[in-house]
Amino acid sequence: MIVTYAGIDGFKNLSGVSIEPDPRYNIIVGQNAQGKTNILEAMWIMSGCKSFRGSKEKDYISLTGSRMSSRLKIRDSVRDQKIVFEMTRSASSPKSIELNGVKQRGTRALFDVFKCIAFIPDDVDIIKGSPEKRRNFIDMAASQLDPRFVMHISKSNAIMNQRNALLKEIAQGNTRIDALDVWDRQAAKEGAVISYMRNDYISRINGICGRLYKTISGGTEELELEYKSNVFKAEDFEKPCGDEACEQYFAKLRETADYDIRTGSTHSGVNRDEVLIKINGVSAKDYGSQGQIKSAALVMKLAQAEIFMKRSKDAPVVFLDDVMGELDESRQRFVFDIIKDMQVFITICNESALLPEIKGKIFRISGGSVIEEPGTEG
Ligand SMILES: Nc1ncnc2c1ncn2[C@@H]1O[C@H](COP(=O)(O)OP(=O)(O)OP(=O)(O)O)[C@@H](O)[C@H]1O
Ligand SMILES: [Mg+2]
Repeated sequence: MIVTYAGIDGFKNLSGVSIEPDPRYNIIVGQNAQGKTNILEAMWIMSGCKSFRGSKEKDYISLTGSRMSSRLKIRDSVRDQKIVFEMTRSASSPKSIELNGVKQRGTRALFDVFKCIAFIPDDVDIIKGSPEKRRNFIDMAASQLDPRFVMHISKSNAIMNQRNALLKEIAQGNTRIDALDVWDRQAAKEGAVISYMRNDYISRINGICGRLYKTISGGTEELELEYKSNVFKAEDFEKPCGDEACEQYFAKLRETADYDIRTGSTHSGVNRDEVLIKINGVSAKDYGSQGQIKSAALVMKLAQAEIFMKRSKDAPVVFLDDVMGELDESRQRFVFDIIKDMQVFITICNESALLPEIKGKIFRISGGSVIEEPGTEG
């Protein structure tokens, strides 16, 4: 899949950006704080995912303006499509999303349309950060393969909100404890499916990460991922995800129910899962060096891209935000080799830090405006 056109106006500091990207490499060059990442972000929001750097939607609109628009034309193996994302400061209808001229109810509709993977410096948080970062990574990656997963996650979150509200009601004596039953049954149904899907994705990505990490470390180190479900043991996943799994999940919720009521939040289930990431058999989070952590994060993202490629004839678009300047030549080659069939957008302060063979269109950005360098096509 490639982006054939991007028009961005009023998104953060960007104004009047109108580019026709190269099908291969696009190098966005500029000093700090000129809007390089903003360009990637304005395209990324068309993927139906939350901002990769955690921006809130209300901050998409330029501080000095009252509306933003981001328009993308994309091409995959089947067709050309057009996505328009607009926001205004109007309270009644702040957001409007159109796909091929048809209004959509929300960004979710775009999830299956525009697929991209972003590599950002904060990716190290997948390794170093809280368990939630690892769960989010797995959930997002698995959802790209199977959008039904998003539905299960959002249902499960909604049920958890209801359950947690109910826990407080019970603690205050306003509601009887039996009222939990109906929510726990639903939570168990969704939670079991999510656990199985996480297990499936982690076993899939584990093999690829192992191979890639071995290569990037010069054949000397092992990377291993292990899913620590809060409910199921590894052998449970050998059985199908059916009534028995739901019962097991339900029983687990019951185990912590008293404590949950006292604290007003749920202490069992998928929101307590962990993904153990080990380098040479020990926790990368606790013992990894900075270099090991960076490489491990990079490898996890590359593995995500590789799985994606295997499953779909349309490769995702790749955004490399500020990661290339930090990698030595052999690591850069390693990355470019894996994403060699994908359209790539690279942000960098100084293009001389990039491998000489990476040639494509160069877009210079300054103060939120973009100028394409003439004759830079690869
Ligand atoms: N809502 C907004 N309205 C206007 N400007 C904004 C808004 N949000 C962020 N900015 C501006 O966008 C600029 C940052 O853009 P961006 O993060 O894309 O920079 P960058 O070129 O990637 O820089 P770096 O090299 O430091 O990563 C800053 O000047 C910031 O003030
Ligand atoms: Mg940036």
